Parts: sequence; structure tokens; C-alpha cells
Amino acid sequence: MLQVSVAIRFSTPLSPRVRDDGAVTNSDPSEGEADREWWRSAVIYQIYPRSFADSDGDGVGDLPGVTSRLSHLADLGVDAVWLSPFYVSRMADAGYDVADYRDVDPVFGTLADADDLLAEAKRLSLRVVVDLVPNHTSDEHEWFRAALTAGPGSPERTRYLFRDGRGEHGELPPNTWRSVFGGPAWTRVVEPDGTPGQWYLHLFDAKQPDLDWTDPEVREEFHDVLRFWLERGVDGFRVDVAHGLVKADGLPDWDHEQELLDGSDGTGQRPPMWDQDDVHDIYRGWRTVLDEYDGNRMLVAEAWVEPPDRLARYVRPDEMHQAFNFAYLTTPWQAPGLREAVVSSLSANRDVGAPSTWVLSNHDVIRHTTRFGLPPEVRAPNGIRAGDPQPDEPLGLRRGRAATALMLALPGSAYLYQGEELGLPEHTTLPDEVRQDPAWFRHDGGVAGRDGCRVPLPWEAGRPANGFSSTGECWLPQPESFARYAAGVQRGVEGSTLELYRSALGLRRSFRMGEGELTFVDGYPDDVVAFRRQTPERAVLVVANLGIEPVDLPEGARVQLASGDLDHRGRVPCDVTIWACPG
Ligand code: GLC
Repeated sequence: MLQVSVAIRFSTPLSPRVRDDGAVTNSDPSEGEADREWWRSAVIYQIYPRSFADSDGDGVGDLPGVTSRLSHLADLGVDAVWLSPFYVSRMADAGYDVADYRDVDPVFGTLADADDLLAEAKRLSLRVVVDLVPNHTSDEHEWFRAALTAGPGSPERTRYLFRDGRGEHGELPPNTWRSVFGGPAWTRVVEPDGTPGQWYLHLFDAKQPDLDWTDPEVREEFHDVLRFWLERGVDGFRVDVAHGLVKADGLPDWDHEQELLDGSDGTGQRPPMWDQDDVHDIYRGWRTVLDEYDGNRMLVAEAWVEPPDRLARYVRPDEMHQAFNFAYLTTPWQAPGLREAVVSSLSANRDVGAPSTWVLSNHDVIRHTTRFGLPPEVRAPNGIRAGDPQPDEPLGLRRGRAATALMLALPGSAYLYQGEELGLPEHTTLPDEVRQDPAWFRHDGGVAGRDGCRVPLPWEAGRPANGFSSTGECWLPQPESFARYAAGVQRGVEGSTLELYRSALGLRRSFRMGEGELTFVDGYPDDVVAFRRQTPERAVLVVANLGIEPVDLPEGARVQLASGDLDHRGRVPCDVTIWACPG
């Protein structure tokens, strides 16, 4: 039997609170439920409304559909949901192009439907986080329309980044920036008098003009939008492209191709459109607004910023509460890298008193069950097409389950993406003619884009569109395999991925795994991630075996959760994670 020697290599208190005796603690038992900083340890489930549940049979998910299925999430055991945008939009980027921040798009329902959703969530004790898209609006937003009509030099244009072009007749873009979705980041407008005119900046699609955050009116408007939703009762905001709002003075040239939301270019230099120091003032202002409201409302940054201590600047005590941990998401299924990602994140966040977050999947990346099943030489492709190397589906699922069991054992807050609780794979053979991601169009079909992770969920096998809509309409077709993954097929079935998630979330809550300390355990092979958690509730040993050889557990250890079967000698086999209580 392997001897486990515990060495305190790393331990992290997760809260800035210092008790009278000088100890630092992550929880204060005297706090009531309403006052608790719930987000420090919450599991937050991302709902992508287009693809969650369709109540009216038009093939696009909607808010009443979400409301009707919230009990699935309460039953799953998550603490909160985050809804991707449901605001008025022409859907050039699936709703991340907002034309009216204070209303619901008819395809998703009405404001009354949003209120009903909030009420039902409250009834089920689920918190609700909504998406806020401040870097850009839709080109159909009234401000942008007014800017086009008002012409150069008008106050209407100062809300966006309009500039004269270079070249003799202004026929060249004002600088060399590229759009994240491919092609130039500038589009030239036709002026009201019919002549070719100024250019406007769009870091994403041409239908997503960037706002100019040096304009006080833009700042005031977003304070007001925050208040609008805070007063309707939301518990927080996920802030889209939080690292992009402020651009370097003078918009200096930057010739590099943009990786999809990669905050660096590999040269170590910070690109002039990302992570500029002045962006933090904006979030200090927002924090002040949130702090006017009770109930511990929160902000989470979508900021593709490295290294971790640079990202931690977004979660300093007077800024946001959390930031997505994309360094963790992009770490391959390899033990040394995972250990390093855990340590660096815990350490950078501890320095500013913020919780770490953990995430494996979202609506912008290949689902982790598929990522981990790809051949090792294939690195993080931007979507997968039928002719590309295909994943090993069973291997990906086995690793995906192990990865989730590992993630949910970490201290801090975790994010789940809809469908991962079913073990859903990416749709890797979508026909090109159904693709909708602007990245696909702006790369002229050169990259597949993100549609493969956005396919509507299977609820009940044997029903039209596997129960996603009553008519069988489905805005992206589901692969045949989705019938096998339907929620109804897995509910109550021992060993199913849905039941694994439910067990993990239940234990995580009762053991209070989101709180407390983490200590890596010595004595295991290098390709094993093993740590001991000391939570306010109990000690838990977590072992994730990423190697080939089975791994022994210490004498008397009682296994509480296992992402796969142990071998006949009670050892943890390859690509399995367990949680155990020491003997
Ligand atoms: C964020 C969203 C992504 C969107 C982009 C532009 O990265 O997650 O889906 O396309 O911002 O708004």
C-alpha cells in the first residue's frame, strides 16, 4: 500500500476576513443566508437560452422554456444560474449584439417572462446572474443608428469609436487591428450625404460596434442598465469581454491576428485593445452601484487575461467579485499543468482576497468531453468539422467525468455549462449550411466556429427534437447520439453522468467543498493529482489518476464519490477521480 505523506505545499485561506485571533477564514457562521457571500463557493450553471428549452415550438429556446425546466437545476443541486443574453438583438452574434439592454427579444419572450423566471428561481432558491455586454452594442441600437445619421464630428459619434481613414481619401482603415472573428476590425460607413465616410471600430462582428468608454454618457448609461436589472431582482452580472472596454490612447497599430479571445499575442506584449489599466475604474464604479443593493449581488468578469496575477486585478476588493479562470479551462488533461493551474490561481486570488473560479466548458469553446477525447496533437481548435480529426467519444466522456469530479472538489466557485451534466459531446459533424457563428462567416469557412457546443439540449429521448421543442423544430440539428444522452434516459440511473453530477454537487454542498484549504499530497506518481481538502465540515482526500497505472488509496479510506469504477483491488484506475474520507 502506498504511503501517503502529507506535505503542506500549498494551503489557501479564501477570504479576506481576519478573525480576532488573527486567523483568516472563508466563512462567518454568524452571517445569515441573505448576507452570506454566496458567490465565494457557489456552483453556477450557464444557461444558453437559445438552446435550453423551447416552449413555443419555433425551434429556438426561450425564457418560458427556461422557467419550465428550472426544477431540473434545483434538483441537480446548483446554487445559481447565469443566463447568456436574452435582450433585443438582431442575433448577429446569438444575442451578444444588444439593441436594447432593457427589454427581452421577442424570440425569447417578454419582460414579464423574465420576471416570472426570476420569481420561479427565487422559489427554488436559485440565484440568477444575467449577462451584460458593455464592450459593444448592436448596430441596430438606437445610439448607433443616431451616430450614422448625425455624421462626423457629432456628439452621437463620440459614444462609439469613429475615426477618419488613412490614405489620400480615407480609404484605408484607421489602424491595423483585426477582428476577433476574422477580417479587419474596422468598417467604413456611408455618410448621410451618400459619400464614403468615417470608419468605426468593431473588435468582433461589423454588426457589433465598440462603444467609447471615455464618454461619460456611456458610463452613466451602464450604471442605469445595472440598476434596471438589480431592481428586477437579479443577483449579479457576467460581464462580457470585460478586458476590452478601454483601448490604448491613440489606438496604435497592432498587426497580429487575433486568436479567439486570446488576450496575448505570445510576444509578452499587451495588445492595445485588451487589459488596459484604466478599465479598472469602470468596475470600481459598478461595484459602488452594486453595493447600494442588499443581497450580495455580484460581478463576474469574462476577461481572457494572463498571467493569473494580472487577472486578479479584476477581483480586487473594490472591483468585481469573480473572474472566469480560462487558464484552467485551457489546461490539457495532464497532471503537472493542472496542479500548476490550481496553485497559481489560488495564490493570485488569495493575494487579493477573492475566490478562485473553475470552469471546463462554455458556449465559446469545445465541450470538455470532446476536448479531452481529441488526439493529443490536436490543440484547442476553433470548432470541429466532419473532415477534421474526430474525438474518441468514450475516452472523452471518461476523462470529462474525471475532470468534473476534480474541478468540483476545488475550493472556490465553479461554473457548469448546460448539457455537461449529461456528458454531452460537441456536435463535430454539423453540416456547414446550418452554421450561424459569425466567426465561420468572417473566416470564409476557414474555421468551424462555436456552433458545435450550442446545439439544443436533449431532454426526453423518443420525443421530437429529444424534447427540446414540441414540434421537432431545432435551430441547430442534434446529432443522433443525443438520444443516448437525454436527461430522461439518465435520471435515476446509477452511474449515469447526470447522477454523477448530482452526487458530486450534493456532497460538495454537504462537505462544504467550496470553502477551506487545499494541500497537495506527496507520494503519488507525477501523473496523479492528489490533494487533501480541509473544509469547515471535514477532511477529504481527492485523487485524480491521469496516468496509466492504477493507484492505491490509503488504508481505510472510504470512497464517497468516484467518476468511474475502481478496479477489483479497490485501486483508482486511469482517468478516474475519487473523493474519499480518510480512514
Ligand atoms: C464573449 C462571448 C461570446 C461573444 C463575444 C462578443 O466572448 O462569450 O460569445 O461572441 O463576447 O460579444
